[in-house]
Amino acid sequence: MGIMTIRVAPSILACDFARLGAEVARATASGADYIHIDVMDGHFVPNITLGPMIVGHIRPYTSLPLDVHLMVDHPEVYAPAFIEAGASIVTFHVEAPGVSTRRRLQLALDNIRRLGARAGLVLKPRTPAEAVFPYLDRCAMVLVMTVEPGFGGQEFMNDMLPKLDALRREAGRRRLELDIEVDGGIDNVTASLCAAHGANVFVAGTYLFSGRGMARRIAAFHHLRTPRPT
Ligand code: DX5
Ligand code: ZN
Repeated sequence: MGIMTIRVAPSILACDFARLGAEVARATASGADYIHIDVMDGHFVPNITLGPMIVGHIRPYTSLPLDVHLMVDHPEVYAPAFIEAGASIVTFHVEAPGVSTRRRLQLALDNIRRLGARAGLVLKPRTPAEAVFPYLDRCAMVLVMTVEPGFGGQEFMNDMLPKLDALRREAGRRRLELDIEVDGGIDNVTASLCAAHGANVFVAGTYLFSGRGMARRIAAFHHLRTPRPT
């Protein structure tokens, strides 16, 4: 049985925003693989965070890929500006207004790829895995939300684990090199549960940015093993 490469993506939502450049540099020096950036518009989720301008300001502070998670209405309109600002990975929600037909959703994914970024889809907790199955061949990654999107520091939802199984099984069946990312309430315990169920990219905000142990915690994530179905 093969093993998927583990990637760790600290979410800057939990960092000290007044020291943003230094916080991004700290995550980079601590062994992160990606920097996870949560974009919220106050419509798709009940919170507002940041736009492409801030992504552009972060870009010089790390050489790591910037993993931009769009929690916005009309992601197809906003994605190009984030790629222009330096995003390497752009994920958006299948539930978002603007990508509600199969054709529009495919075009949005294709446009992200055409502009040179990796594209991915995101599932809210109540959206089933099957919602992304028609698009898996266009996705480098699927992000499974393990809390309701909008805020950091929430409790991990255990009932998302079967969704990870379903995605990993489907990717395996179709021989796709799919990255499965989890986001929300991820710590050492919940990450190891998710790895056992097929996730290989771990977003963590509160757990990684609070306190001084970031490098040790990231190293522990890197020791997880994600089995690949045969
Ligand atoms: C929530 C965001 C997450 C958030 C996770 O909508 O998508 O990326 O930062 O925060 P923690 O790790 O604190 O649950
Ligand atoms: Zn996120």
